[in-house]
Amino acid sequence: MRVLRRTLGTFGTFLGVLGVLSGSVSCTAAHGDDARPGDDPPAALAPFERLLPAPASARADGPGYAVGPGTVIHTGPGPDEDVRQVGELLAEQLRGPSGLPLPVVDGPGGDGIRLRIDEEAEGVGDEGYRLESGPGGITLTARTPAGLFHAGQTLRQLLPVAGPGTVPGGTVTDRPRFAYRGAMVDIARHFFTVEQVKRYVDQLAQYKVNTLHVHLTDDQGWRLAVDSWPRLAEYGGGSEVGGGPGGYWTKDEYRELVAYAGRRYVDVVPEIDMPGHVNAALASYAELNCDGKVRERYTGIKVGFSSLCVGKERTYEFIDQVLGELAELTPGRYLHLGGDEAHSTPAADYAAFMDRAQAVVGRYGKTVVAWHQLATAQPAAGAVLQYWGHDRTPAAEKAAVVAAAKAGHPLILSPADRLYLDMKYGLATKPGQVWAGLVPVKRAYSWNPGAYLAGVPESAVLGVEAALWTETIATRGDWELMAFPRVLGLAELGWSPAASHDWASYSRRLGAQGPRLQAQDISYYRAPDVPWQ
Ligand code: ACM
Repeated sequence: MRVLRRTLGTFGTFLGVLGVLSGSVSCTAAHGDDARPGDDPPAALAPFERLLPAPASARADGPGYAVGPGTVIHTGPGPDEDVRQVGELLAEQLRGPSGLPLPVVDGPGGDGIRLRIDEEAEGVGDEGYRLESGPGGITLTARTPAGLFHAGQTLRQLLPVAGPGTVPGGTVTDRPRFAYRGAMVDIARHFFTVEQVKRYVDQLAQYKVNTLHVHLTDDQGWRLAVDSWPRLAEYGGGSEVGGGPGGYWTKDEYRELVAYAGRRYVDVVPEIDMPGHVNAALASYAELNCDGKVRERYTGIKVGFSSLCVGKERTYEFIDQVLGELAELTPGRYLHLGGDEAHSTPAADYAAFMDRAQAVVGRYGKTVVAWHQLATAQPAAGAVLQYWGHDRTPAAEKAAVVAAAKAGHPLILSPADRLYLDMKYGLATKPGQVWAGLVPVKRAYSWNPGAYLAGVPESAVLGVEAALWTETIATRGDWELMAFPRVLGLAELGWSPAASHDWASYSRRLGAQGPRLQAQDISYYRAPDVPWQ
């Protein structure tokens, strides 16, 4: 990222002079300190009009259903463990805010909330659903349990933030625009616990984000236990940016996160970054270094100075064992190899290394994801590239990515000047970086992933992902301040039909989410151009 960053040197200096880079200006967080005296609160939106992400279609029609003390959740018609689990989780999510008992009962049942699998359901695809509400109850229909889960998240938004309420009569028929709707967290620069990441999974899943990409390793720390190379976590995990204690996840903790996310239909994509971004590994094992000398642990924020030793066979035993253990922990199809900013690896070595690393992933039955620099080497058949360039990325770099897409490599789009959640909103934002520019809420939302890279058709875009790098983010508060509300824009870009794209509509619906975010104790940034309720 800092090769590109250098192209912004002047801008960075300008901000530095203003004191922004040193964090001397504080940011406006939630709780309304920016509300202008005398402003009327914006008019409340009707339930079908406030859904975020916007559904493919929603029609209010006739009398609705009052969710009350007698409401039962029916998971039928027959017993189905997955549907039952979706029903149980929905009950849990509705009980807190509504204060209702909401028992879950197998079988078709009568009045109440009914969850139904119908493999022939029309217009909903694999992840979509139909929600029908009328006086006798609310029926959620989908082809898959994932679709039912998403239907349940829509139902949550149709009910009040607190207390029981009536879902108006009508029908929502919905399906996602993109299959991949992701959020990345970097637990390497600053360590975060599984509990914190689970909290983020809950926050994301309610907006139909379906992928959590975890950046597990970097120069500053190795965060996942590996049995065959125990010092990676035990020693290499003991550092982080700024000199804090760091930490790592045991395999059981990792499994717990994967299972927790899985119950919310969120797939975990683990990333072991290579051949660069590996100082924590080089500090843990002397034999991984070409000169056989162990490196010091690193707590700064430079990039591009470390490389695995491409010419040494031991390196390939290392990646085979690490990726083998990782594949064993990963029910999903993707392993992310990083592959970015390998500035200390000569280009020919980089290509040779990535050939072998991709082959290892293939041998373990997984599909490669890598940052878009893999386009400068030989992406393996089926490999997915994650684009993180921005408006000032050189044309030649973009062209390599476009060529890879044309050769059949699906793209995940994470433009740094739109979807890097560690970029500051404005000059006053306290945490964050500016190398890709400032990213206000409107900018994060106002672009079209289906027509973003000239020459890449929408069909070549697997989806979108928002990335939270944590060089400057060390607390839950700063994490949430940077992610919220921009990550809701990511959710909408990933799910909602292109035709629904409209800042005026989106910003009103975003404003209507304010009380929900507040009720969940999310310390979001109360952007001044959003009409917060
Ligand atoms: C990246 O930001 N280096 C992927």
